[in-house]
Amino acid sequence: MILDEKEQEIKVPEVQLNLYKPTDPVLVPIVENRIATRAASPHYIRHIVFDVSGTKLEGIVRPGQSIGILADGVDNNGKPHKVRLYSIASPSEGEDGQGRHISTTVKRMVEEHWEDNSLFLGACSNFLCDRKPGDMVRMTGPSGKRFLLPENPADYNYVFFATGTGIAPFRAMIMDLMHSGVTSDILLVFGCAYRTDYLYDTQFEDYAKTHTNFKYIKAVSRENLRPDGSKPYVQTTLLDKADVLMPVLKKKNTLIYICGMKGMEAGIYQNMVLQGLVEYFKPDETLQAIEPAKWPWEVFKKGLKTGERLFVEVY
Ligand SMILES: Cc1cc2nc3c(=O)[nH]c(=O)nc-3n(C[C@H](O)[C@H](O)[C@H](O)COP(=O)(O)OP(=O)(O)OC[C@H]3O[C@@H](n4cnc5c(N)ncnc54)[C@H](O)[C@@H]3O)c2cc1C
Ligand SMILES: NC(=O)c1ccc[n+]([C@@H]2O[C@H](COP(=O)([O-])OP(=O)(O)OC[C@H]3O[C@@H](n4cnc5c(N)ncnc54)[C@H](OP(=O)(O)O)[C@@H]3O)[C@@H](O)[C@H]2O)c1
Repeated sequence: MILDEKEQEIKVPEVQLNLYKPTDPVLVPIVENRIATRAASPHYIRHIVFDVSGTKLEGIVRPGQSIGILADGVDNNGKPHKVRLYSIASPSEGEDGQGRHISTTVKRMVEEHWEDNSLFLGACSNFLCDRKPGDMVRMTGPSGKRFLLPENPADYNYVFFATGTGIAPFRAMIMDLMHSGVTSDILLVFGCAYRTDYLYDTQFEDYAKTHTNFKYIKAVSRENLRPDGSKPYVQTTLLDKADVLMPVLKKKNTLIYICGMKGMEAGIYQNMVLQGLVEYFKPDETLQAIEPAKWPWEVFKKGLKTGERLFVEVY
């Protein structure tokens, strides 16, 4: 299907929302908690699986949605911890094929206070990463109703841009696409600091070997610099791997999904515009009067209005 300009509303399926609220969470057991990076990574990122069987979450959580977790204990002010959101990393049918085991990808938040050398450990990420199989956690959700695969996935091509744990929803979405036998183009661009930080790497490498429509591009920022001295980031692949990305991005039925660090969004938009991919945006009248390649950087930073084919979740 080729979309024409007027019919660009991309329909996403109806999903269930907020079946469990922070005031009334559901208690579920952890069934698996394993390292998601290579062992030598300086980052601590874990793949955590929860058993939601017998709860209202069984079989209904979709890739692109998030679940909430309430860490046990209290914060520095003695108040119960607030809910933290985590993207679903499992496909619609769950890790178990039955929608009973759902997963996420959690990075331990670890920071050193430079003023007094003290260590700060993020409350919920460390609570979750510390849990063992059999431990119970309080869960809310699901949340999210727009950052989803479209209703008719076979009608579209996909370009996924992820940094770090932003890969979680794309693992889930790509598994759904693979399971449904979609033959359109699927490109995954993943950005991380070191090669030790690749997430779900074997799985994506296997897909790339077994599915000619799936391509996997990595941007490793802290090992080799680009010829101009800048870091390879997901957005620089728009220039450096244009031979792979541009033929897909130029198709009228390609959807772009972006997830991860907030800073990536402006960089991706700028390089898209430099590459002439203006049809993904809705520039206002002032911008329309300027040649896109000369749009000021501020426009990208402040949030250029995007069209229907861009799905973004960054923070
Ligand atoms: C839609 C959505 C999806 C998400 N998905 C994921 C995901 O899939 N995986 C993932 O890992 N994360 C995800 N997150 C982020 C996640 O929700 C949490 O924000 C993250 O895990 C940090 O929470 P925390 O409780 O560990 O850290 P917090 O305790 O909330 O601390 C966070 C930061 O606050 C600052 N801070 C707070 N208190 C102090 C203090 N006393 N001293 C110094 N600094 C302090 C620090 O900078 C610290 O790093 C998602 C967020 C959203 C909104
Ligand atoms: N559903 C969601 O919304 C969702 C889900 C999961 C995660 N997240 C968020 O995604 C972020 C991922 O954090 P992380 O700690 O896992 O990642 P990270 O390890 O800090 O960074 C991943 C990669 O992104 C690069 N990077 C830094 N600034 C960038 C920029 N402006 N543009 C492009 N790339 C940039 C980093 O490079 P350098 O460090 O070398 O500069 C690194 O190579 C977090 O903010 C997390 O909360 C969102």
